[in-house]
Amino acid sequence: MLKTTLLEAVQAGAGVLKKYFNGSFKISHKEGINNLVTEADHAAEKIIIDTILKNHPNHFILGEESGERQTDSDYKWIIDPIDGTVNFAHGIPLCCVSIALEKKGEIILGAVYNPLINELFFAEKGKGATLNNHHIHVSNQTSVLKSCLVTGFPYTYLDSSNGPLQVFERLIRLGIPVRRLGSAAIDLCWVAAGRFDGFYEHKLEAWDSAAGYLIVEEAGGRVTDFTGDSFSPYQPHVLATNGKIHEELRSFVNNTR
Ligand code: IPD
Ligand code: CA
Ligand code: CA
Repeated sequence: MLKTTLLEAVQAGAGVLKKYFNGSFKISHKEGINNLVTEADHAAEKIIIDTILKNHPNHFILGEESGERQTDSDYKWIIDPIDGTVNFAHGIPLCCVSIALEKKGEIILGAVYNPLINELFFAEKGKGATLNNHHIHVSNQTSVLKSCLVTGFPYTYLDSSNGPLQVFERLIRLGIPVRRLGSAAIDLCWVAAGRFDGFYEHKLEAWDSAAGYLIVEEAGGRVTDFTGDSFSPYQPHVLATNGKIHEELRSFVNNTR
């Protein structure tokens, strides 16, 4: 039932993305001039939440655009109606709906769907991860120097030692390919599918990372914060790899290598 609701909600949100993509829609700005929100983000979040509450009226909801709908339920849905909104607003087909379900603080289900290239990633705790119903697995790469990595940058410049630009420069100076797709949820799923060997980002929110986290772990990868502690969607630093390059990539990020 929970899985059915998740898939129904993700499909409903994706229908909105498809409807608006490359069409005309209202765009407004959140804090930071390029942190956009479109009419489609609001419409997708509404239909996702309506779908969940129709089946589970008592569940707790955390949505990027509408905030928290708190209840005392053990179940909490974490929703990013469009991850990759800047791509979406520019007609770049790298964006998705991302939804995770937490039970008593543990993420038990996750789905990330990019309807524009028809890729549905799904994971259930303990049952593996799939892409369009086929099981996926992380890569076998054992060296950061031979890896293909992906990262993202926050909308407002983060000036700190080992900040996003410093880590990026460190890797690029060594000739390591580091891509930047513009959707953290897709970045994580592409690590799960073995397309990338690792991903790191300095400032993510729960709705960016929660579903992708489970998909990476269930595909055999590892996700932690930058200290190597267990992942929590409620802290900003996300390091996700195939497991084999995890400690080495962590040392690049922290400049301790
Ligand atoms: C953003 C994307 C991007 C990441 C940003 C996020 P949004 O989410 O995931 O890849 O670098 O930090 O805010 O705004 O498109 O939902
Ligand atoms: Ca997001
Ligand atoms: Ca979003």
